[in-house]
Amino acid sequence: FVLPAISESSASRAALPADVGGVLGVGVAVLDLIQEVTSYPGEDEEVRAIAQRRVRGGNVTNSLTILAQFGHSCSWIGTLGDDAAAAEIRMELVRQGIDVSQVVQIAGGTSPLSSILLSRATGSRTIVHYRDLPELDAAAFAEVSLEGLAWVHFEGRNPVETEQMIRRVRSVAPDVTISLELEKNRPDIDILFDGPHVLLAGQAFARARGWQTPTVLLEELAGRSRADLCVVAWGEQGAALQRREGPIQQVPAVVPPRVVDTLGAGDVFNAGVMDGLLRGLPALDAVRHAVRIAGAKCGRMGLDLRD
Ligand code: ADP
Ligand code: FRU
Repeated sequence: FVLPAISESSASRAALPADVGGVLGVGVAVLDLIQEVTSYPGEDEEVRAIAQRRVRGGNVTNSLTILAQFGHSCSWIGTLGDDAAAAEIRMELVRQGIDVSQVVQIAGGTSPLSSILLSRATGSRTIVHYRDLPELDAAAFAEVSLEGLAWVHFEGRNPVETEQMIRRVRSVAPDVTISLELEKNRPDIDILFDGPHVLLAGQAFARARGWQTPTVLLEELAGRSRADLCVVAWGEQGAALQRREGPIQQVPAVVPPRVVDTLGAGDVFNAGVMDGLLRGLPALDAVRHAVRIAGAKCGRMGLDLRD
C-alpha cells in the first residue's frame, strides 16, 4: 500500500483496496462566492477583486470531494433549498462523483451561501455565512441507507438530532466507523462526545471552550469521551492526536512554499485522517498524511488535489 501522493503524482493513481466500503457524509453544502483580494480591506473601503470563483462549499461536502479524489465511494446527506443555488450545488457534487440521491430538498427553502474574501497576501479566508434552512433531522436520517458503508462522518451541529443519528448507525451498522467534527462550540454539543469512534476537533472549537492548547483540548476530551481516537487540527502549527489511554502525539504542519488559499484546509485535513484510517494506517501515520495533504492544499487554489 502506497500513500496517495499529490503534486508529482496524482492522488487518484494510488489505488484503494477494492474491499473498502463507502463513506457517507452528514452535514451541509453551501454556495461559496469567493473574491480574491490583494490584501484584506478595511471597513468601509472599496476595493477591486483580482479574481473570483463560485463553487460548492460546506465542511462535509468539501471533505467528501477529497475522499472521492482518493478513490472512495462517497455519498452526502443533508438539506438543500429548491432554488437555483441548490441546482448548482447538486450539479457540482454529481460532477465530483458524490452520490446525492438521498438529499432532502426543502420546499421554498433558500440554500446556504457564504461570501468569502481570500487574501493573496496571506492566504487567509474570511467567511460571512448565511443560512436559513432547516437542518437534517433524525427522522429523515432514519430513511437513509447504511448499506455498503465503512464510515459515516458527521458535522457537529444540531446535537439533539445528531445524537439520535449516531445512535442509529451504532445499532444498525455496528461495524461502521463514526467520526464527528467539532468545529464550533454549539449548545448541547457535549452530548455528542461519547458516541463517535473518532473525534476531529479544531482550534476555534477549543478556544471557544477556553482550552488554549491542543494538549488541553485532548485532555479535556479524554475525560468526556470514550472515542478510540481524538485528533485536533491547529492551523499552521499542525495537529495533535491521542488514542484512548495513549500518549498525546504532535505532528508539525507541512508548510507549502507559498500559502495561497487556506479555505477548507480543515475539511481536507479531516478527509486525510479518514482516508488514512480507511487504508489501515496507524493513527499517527493517518494524521501525518492528513497534515501533508492539508499543507499541500494551502499551497494551491481550490480543492482539486489532483495534478
Ligand atoms: P480550518 O480550515 O478549519 O480553519 P486549520 O486552520 O486548523 O483548519 O487547518 C487544518 C490543517 O491544515 C492544519 O492542521 C494544518 O495541517 C493545515 N494548515 C492550515 N494552515 C496551514 C498553513 N498556513 N501552512 C501549512 N499547513 C496548514
Ligand atoms: C470551509 C467552509 C466553506 C463554507 C463554510 C461553511 O471550511 O466549509 O466552504 O462556506 O466553511 O461554514
